[in-house]
Amino acid sequence: MFLIIVVLIGFVIFAYVVTDKGSGRPVPNRAYLDYYLPDYSGWLKDRVASDEYWRKISSCIRDSDVCRKSGRVVGGFPESVDEYYRRRLSPIESGCCKPPTECGFTYVNETTWNPIDSAFVVNNRDCIRWGNDQEQLCYNCNSCKAGVLAGLRKSWRKVSVINIVVLIILVIAYVVACAAFRNNRRMDNDEPYEQTRMEKARPSWIRLKRGI
Ligand SMILES: *[C@@H]1O[C@H](CO)[C@@H](O)[C@H](O)[C@H]1NC(C)=O
Repeated sequence: MFLIIVVLIGFVIFAYVVTDKGSGRPVPNRAYLDYYLPDYSGWLKDRVASDEYWRKISSCIRDSDVCRKSGRVVGGFPESVDEYYRRRLSPIESGCCKPPTECGFTYVNETTWNPIDSAFVVNNRDCIRWGNDQEQLCYNCNSCKAGVLAGLRKSWRKVSVINIVVLIILVIAYVVACAAFRNNRRMDNDEPYEQTRMEKARPSWIRLKRGI
C-alpha cells in the first residue's frame, strides 16, 4: 500500500513537471487557439519533437482521420469561413489540420486553404510546410507538434486529477489502518490476550454473584 502511494505521488509529480509549461495562444477574431512549439519545453517536448518519434506520432494522427472528421457539412456545403472561425478546435485539429492563422491563407474548407504570397513575409516555416494534399496538411508543422503536446498536457492533467483523488482515498485508508493497528498493539501490550480481560472481569462478576 505504501509503495502504491509512493508510485502515485511520483506519477503526479512527473506529470506536472513534464507538462508544466505551455498552452495555446488566442488569435484575434477566432474562437480557437493557435499552437506554437517554442511555448513548450522539457523532456516531453524533446521526445515529441524528435524526428524519430514524430514520424510515428504524425503517421498515427494521419491514420486517425482526425482532420477529415473535423470537416462539417452545412446544408450540403462545407461550413462557411465564419462558422469555422467560431469553432473551438481541439489542439490537434488546430495545430495539424489547418495552417497557422498568421500565414493569412484563405479558407476553402476545413482542410483546404489557399496560400497567398504574403506567406513569405511571415517568419513561420509552418506556412511552407502546409500542403492542401490531404495526406500532407500540417502534419509536419511545428504547430502540429505543439498541438500534440497541448493535447497530452490536457489528458495527463485529467489523469493526475483522478490520481490525486485515488491518492487521498489511499492515504486516508492508510492512516486509518495504521491507527487501528497501533491501537490494537497498545491493547495487546496492556492485556496480551482477549481471554485475560474476560478472566479479570469474571472475579467481580463471581463476587457479585456470591454476594447475593
Ligand atoms: C476539402 O476539399 C478538398 C478538395 O476539394 C477535399 O479533398 C477534402 O476532403 C475536403 N475536406 C473536408 C474536411 O471536407
